Amino acid sequence: MAAYWLNGKLVNREQATVSVFDHGLLYGDGVFEGIRFYRRKAFRLEAHLRRLSHSATAIGLMLPYTLDELETAIEDVIRACTEADGYLRLVITRGEGSLGIDPALCKRATAFIIADRIAVVAPHVLEQGAKLVIASTRRLPPDGLDPRLKSLNYLNQVLARMEASHADADEAVLLNAQGYVTEGTTDNIFIVRDGTLMTPPVTDGALEGVTRDIILQLARELGITCSERTLAPYDLYTADECFLTGTAVELVPVREIDARMLHSCPGPVFQRLQNAFRDRIAGEAGENSMKRVAS
Ligand SMILES: Cc1ncc(COP(=O)(O)O)c(C=O)c1O
Repeated sequence: MAAYWLNGKLVNREQATVSVFDHGLLYGDGVFEGIRFYRRKAFRLEAHLRRLSHSATAIGLMLPYTLDELETAIEDVIRACTEADGYLRLVITRGEGSLGIDPALCKRATAFIIADRIAVVAPHVLEQGAKLVIASTRRLPPDGLDPRLKSLNYLNQVLARMEASHADADEAVLLNAQGYVTEGTTDNIFIVRDGTLMTPPVTDGALEGVTRDIILQLARELGITCSERTLAPYDLYTADECFLTGTAVELVPVREIDARMLHSCPGPVFQRLQNAFRDRIAGEAGENSMKRVAS
């Protein structure tokens, strides 16, 4: 299934390697995107490339290829895959440098794309709902590392995910330094209360998720009232419904948070949004041309 593209060309798995001096590896100095493809077409590619470009700009990293060139590379790597549906990881690192941290010594960024299957959520979790725990590991504050920046620094999320595993849970929720809800380790979080859909504003410490945006847009189209507002753990515990959104996880209903059982899972609002989301994917994947999907 898998296919690989590295610094301008398709390569096999053995050739898909980077230097031990790459600052992406040594310092987490780089940016990335996770992108789904359905029926050999990258989903919401324009939104992903825009976010990648903003992340790179925010860390002063010059992309080694134009966005059009990256789009062509993505088309090539999808074509090289044996399966029509899958997941892409597009990574741009600062590149090979010295052992010192100074990025100025990295002459050219490294770029690679992996196309592979992804199954991060077990089928029984999709059916019965996920069990969440609130992690003691906090999301880094924006004056440390802006959460809108999709960088290679995921150690907080890794530590939070370990907390979930130790608690025999499926996912962890990270709070910000003030104790308000931000998001999951690799997904955004929504709740429903009295028919209103709510998600924390990205300024509380969440990534501006592409799937999050789609859900907010679908909710408006379906006439579901939605609000981006600060949420406390109390709001999660007492929600009627809760669910997670992300490229890798797609949509996952939540049944339990810190041993509080939610009212409804999968809830009626979740089910409406899930149907609309599936239709949107099918609609966009069905378009004949490879033109970018306007977000
Ligand atoms: C920290 C974090 N939050 C949220 C998301 C969901 O974003 P998207 O819907 O763009 O995949 C991701 C996805 O990678 C993520 O890493």
